[in-house]
Amino acid sequence: MLDESRHAHDLLTGRLSLRRPSPDDIDAIHAIHSDPATCLHNPSDALSKREEATELFHRWDDHWQRFGYGYWTVRRQGSDRPLGFCGTKTMDLNGMSVLNLFYRFETSSWGQGLATEAATAVVDWVTQRAPELPVIARVRPANTASQRVAIRAGLVRAAHLDLPGEDGLGWIYAKNLHH
Ligand SMILES: CC(C)(COP(=O)(O)OP(=O)(O)OC[C@H]1O[C@@H](n2cnc3c(N)ncnc32)[C@H](O)[C@@H]1OP(=O)(O)O)[C@@H](O)C(=O)NCCC(=O)NCCS
Repeated sequence: MLDESRHAHDLLTGRLSLRRPSPDDIDAIHAIHSDPATCLHNPSDALSKREEATELFHRWDDHWQRFGYGYWTVRRQGSDRPLGFCGTKTMDLNGMSVLNLFYRFETSSWGQGLATEAATAVVDWVTQRAPELPVIARVRPANTASQRVAIRAGLVRAAHLDLPGEDGLGWIYAKNLHH
């Protein structure tokens, strides 16, 4: 099943398969982003209506079309059920082009090292694919789990880049900063 839809940009880790999102993933985008627990630290990311998940999917898909990478849907190998999403998108950070690292998983999958496994694969892949771009994560100060994932994926704290965001101060973690 998985093999029929494998593409060059699919990523495989020890336990996980990461695939470019398809419209079939909109239900999972909606379910995961409408659970208040997954947006506790980033309430501005929370979705309520399914149409918002459809719009979000299209934004993710546009990024894939423009850049050839973006956010992946994460599943256990051999399973069709999405566990979450992990990837990067281009953004401007204080006038610098960077790749913003993202991860959000359903709560039942937490605490098994899965986000770390996915984020590590994503960071390694984008660092090879776009070595000129720093990879950053913007993390709310109380979001310890997310900070740990960023560090495990090879990013280091870059406090000089901290900046306010929609949900409050974002602590910046970075890899591949050129200055
Ligand atoms: C952040 C998130 C993706 C982590 O997923 P996960 O699969 O549980 O992460 P892992 O199992 O790989 O654990 C990573 C580390 O965080 C730690 N951790 C996990 N949950 C934690 C918690 N609630 N509090 C403190 N530490 C926690 C783990 O012990 C591990 O630490 P270690 O590297 O020192 O061993 C998940 O909690 C999530 O989806 N949160 C909501 C979305 C979100 O906040 N995204 C980030 C926005 S910046």
